Amino acid sequence: MSEVHEFLGEAEIAARVKALAAEIRRDAGPEAPVHLIGVLKGAFVFLADLMREVGGDVSCDFIAVSSYAGTKSTGEVQILKDLDRSIEGRHVVIVEDIVDTGLTLSYLQNALRARAPKSIRTACLLSKPSRRKVDVPVEYIGFTIDDRFVVGYGLDYNEQYRNLPFIGVVQGVG
Ligand code: IMP
Repeated sequence: MSEVHEFLGEAEIAARVKALAAEIRRDAGPEAPVHLIGVLKGAFVFLADLMREVGGDVSCDFIAVSSYAGTKSTGEVQILKDLDRSIEGRHVVIVEDIVDTGLTLSYLQNALRARAPKSIRTACLLSKPSRRKVDVPVEYIGFTIDDRFVVGYGLDYNEQYRNLPFIGVVQGVG
């Protein structure tokens, strides 16, 4: 494994996750059930922390899509694991690790909107706006970053580094 240079530390991430959770709860209202949909695998760490901060009536489900090999996005999206439960009539928040080209998220938003949720919003820990190929609405963004390939806190490079508690850049990648 190559060396990883940290640029977002644990405390900084935790503070931002807490703030995003507060926004999500505020927008939904104190009593409303919030249904988080984590996009596997990258979002599972973010979702776990976010969910515990949102508080109140909160549930989760997961969807797995494949569109990515190595460090370049291909734009082809396939559902590998679908949701367990219907989202019809529910307040849904898609939880994504990072928006790069926006192709994955754009596909997911359209696919899930077609299932008639009551509302649909999106939370992304990271956004790389300079890489965007499609304009995709994201209501909750943790950090906006430059065009570089990042790992840690759920994000991987060839399935490695997801366990790092911080976000960093792999030496020699991206
Ligand atoms: P998009 O469809 O190009 O927006 O790609 C989104 C997906 O690509 C994310 O959910 C990640 O799985 C992956 N991805 C994009 N950029 C990075 C990165 O810097 N590190 C790790 N995964 C990334």
